[in-house]
Amino acid sequence: MYSLLSFCLILCLSLSASAAVIDRRIAVPSGYVAPPYYPTPHGGWTADWSVSYHKASLLVSQMTLAEKTNVTAGSGIFMGRCVGNTGSALRLGIPQLCLQDGPLGIRNADHNTAFPPGITVGATFDKDLMRARGVALGEEFRGKGINVHLGPSVGPLGRKPRGGRNWEGFGADPVLQAFGGSLTIEGVQSVGVIATVKHLIANEQEMYSRMKNIFQPEISSNVDDRTLHELYLWPFAESVRSGVGALMISYNAVNGSACSQNSYLMNNLLKDELGFQGFVMSDWLAQISGVASALAGLDMSMPGDINEVPLIGSSYWMYELSRSVLNGSVPVDRLNDMATRILASWYQFGQDRNYPTPNFDTNTQDASGPLYPGALFSPSGVVNQFVDVRATHAEIARAVARDAITLLKNTIATLPLAKNTTLKVFGTDAEKNPDGINSCSDQGCNKGTLGMGWGSGSARYPYLDSPIDGLKARGAKYQFFNTDSFPSNSNPNPGDVALVFISADSGENYITVDGNPGDRTNAGLNAWHNGDKLVQDVAAKYSNVIVVVHTVGPILMESWIDLPSVNAVLNAHLPGQEAGEALMQVLFGEVSPSGHLPYTIPKSEADYPDTVSLVGFEVGQPQDTFTEGLYIDYRHFNQQNIKPRFAFGHGLSYTTFSFSNASITAVTPLTSLPPTRPIKGPTPSYNTSIPPASEAYWPDNFSRIWRYLYSWLDKNDADVAAKIGNSSTSAKYPYPDGCSTDQKPGPVAGGAQGGNPALFDVAYNLSITVTNAGNISGKAVSQLYVQFPVGISFDTPIIQLRDFAKTITLAPGQSQTLQMRVTRKDLSVWDVVQQNWIIPDVGGDYGIWIGEASDSLSVRCGTSPLGCVM
Ligand code: BGC
Repeated sequence: MYSLLSFCLILCLSLSASAAVIDRRIAVPSGYVAPPYYPTPHGGWTADWSVSYHKASLLVSQMTLAEKTNVTAGSGIFMGRCVGNTGSALRLGIPQLCLQDGPLGIRNADHNTAFPPGITVGATFDKDLMRARGVALGEEFRGKGINVHLGPSVGPLGRKPRGGRNWEGFGADPVLQAFGGSLTIEGVQSVGVIATVKHLIANEQEMYSRMKNIFQPEISSNVDDRTLHELYLWPFAESVRSGVGALMISYNAVNGSACSQNSYLMNNLLKDELGFQGFVMSDWLAQISGVASALAGLDMSMPGDINEVPLIGSSYWMYELSRSVLNGSVPVDRLNDMATRILASWYQFGQDRNYPTPNFDTNTQDASGPLYPGALFSPSGVVNQFVDVRATHAEIARAVARDAITLLKNTIATLPLAKNTTLKVFGTDAEKNPDGINSCSDQGCNKGTLGMGWGSGSARYPYLDSPIDGLKARGAKYQFFNTDSFPSNSNPNPGDVALVFISADSGENYITVDGNPGDRTNAGLNAWHNGDKLVQDVAAKYSNVIVVVHTVGPILMESWIDLPSVNAVLNAHLPGQEAGEALMQVLFGEVSPSGHLPYTIPKSEADYPDTVSLVGFEVGQPQDTFTEGLYIDYRHFNQQNIKPRFAFGHGLSYTTFSFSNASITAVTPLTSLPPTRPIKGPTPSYNTSIPPASEAYWPDNFSRIWRYLYSWLDKNDADVAAKIGNSSTSAKYPYPDGCSTDQKPGPVAGGAQGGNPALFDVAYNLSITVTNAGNISGKAVSQLYVQFPVGISFDTPIIQLRDFAKTITLAPGQSQTLQMRVTRKDLSVWDVVQQNWIIPDVGGDYGIWIGEASDSLSVRCGTSPLGCVM
């Protein structure tokens, strides 16, 4: 979401452009379709939500029209303490819900933990840490009185290496994203906070996706059905399977239809095929229609205002939704389902029982201030109570930061460092921003240690333990040159070890940093602040150089990686508040690095498919067509036989590991198609006649706050609307093709949360023993990739990650047996004709490869004959 300042700019642009009339649509390329799918499937048909739906239905059946409408939208941008604040129905005990960013911690708050972001979590390849961080996040959100956590982000997936928000998610692979997302959701929701998986879907670049203007609608991501299922939808499916309570729809269009009113995405894929039982909210100001978005499956408008000119008290819903229901444009049935979905989620996580109310304000750090900063005249009061919600979460944050650190290169055993090493430290990234760790709003600058990217997915640091703090704290022998240009006075001595810190940043499009409007347009994939030159200059004068990188994603290293004195490289990703000590433990060898790359590092940007470049300016709707299909990141490098600099999954250790005793066991016998899906269970039923207009009249003597969004109608408007709605002769809303109110049985690929439950049957269990074969303790990661049988009629990537596991810290000589599994879905392809997951060759020999990286797979298990070869 935007800050108040950037907001004024949008307002001016929208106002000045409002007179022009042009045809803004450009046809999407042929073959990319978003077929209409109506009506919105009712929620409540899976057994795991039936109790909550029952409770919600008892409440909804007592609600007036205006009360139902009020819970489906925000009260307006900057109209409350949180980034989103729904309307309430206090008569029935339904409070306003507080919705708050973001995926790495509470945005714009105090006494919170600034955890490492998703990309760092992905690099740990550690499921326990993924879940533990989720629990800690949930505890903090609950502690601040937040009902809905606006995370995790599993879209963008990282198709475009320059994409601005990839770092909020867990890596450029659907399965890594899926584990990161679903384990976070399980953690967050285990303490009663509703998680929001976002952003559905294919929002792979920042530019042109949002802040559209009259000349350019939002970008259209054109994705074919199979690619959508096998890559981009996969992590959303797993998130739904984990029972996620909310989902955020993205800014962009898919196949020409804006996601916020795309019935193919929301009604069909999400709510029917994936069986999503929670509620769908718009991204902030991404809603562009009233009736159409309701029919297409949107359940909550956030922050409530209309997109073109927010902050004037206008909404596509609220007042207008009440009116649209009365005049018969939006079926009562749809509104009932929206309200029920929202309240069922509220019950599902126990928020009806002693849930705290917000005790912080995202708009200010002051103790008191306006209660509705977006209002022209607002009452004031205490808004921040400075509740400390951190408990011992710093330890989890540090463990994630540390166990994500990825050792890319380590020649002549440069690392770990001896305690008494004389260090010369270079680069401003080694020390905190001298202007203050929170001096840039939403971390919209890259100055000092880079712990996170910028935008709504950032948080204020309670403190930032920088690498220099870490060196100080352990009394290391070091001299620090706080500059990104090589200083002339560093006096290289033969025994010195040089430590060079470089960084690369990106973020959300409403802030531009050093010419990068979210995406890395200006910086490209290079280190910022002339980092490459700094490494080269240091390497020219010092014979033993270690490079530490803090980065949002892949950077090019070719100009220095092979220099003779660059002996070690650590990718510390984005460490959050615990940068220093986490790094020290690895540098000085108390802990062996155990992170692995959650993306490929190429030798040249030209090694990626052309289609994953940023799409530039064009008049009309920019078209971003995913013609590379399944071939992104390592899938592409393998297909084209391009050797990257460092492969997906790469990560060295101070020790070495051997893999032995691999075994594979068949569990569920496979058939070409999965068993028939279960039928849907019952859903709440209500009276669907248009309610009396009086249910929407303003309450008597109601004192309004100007610009605040309300759901009540002026009596005359309500009466006129109801008259239209109840007349059989009046012209009806021009409904889209295929619009109907008859509930469908659901697609064959559905049947439960996440899809047909049989898809998640375990087909094979695998186990492998990992032994620490070196003489330093360390943790190993075992990655499992599937290779489809040869000769099948589907083109499939050579290998695809399907599972992973991490050992405990193994002492030298110690072993651990790790278990992994392959599901039916893991062995299936999405058949666009049958609209189902099929096993292309039931008796065929699937290669199940296990190893430490996508280019280091020493074990092959096969399914026919069943067995493993080391
Ligand atoms: C972002 C979302 C965020 C929302 C609320 C939007 O601009 O895309 O990720 O949750 O704002 O701040």
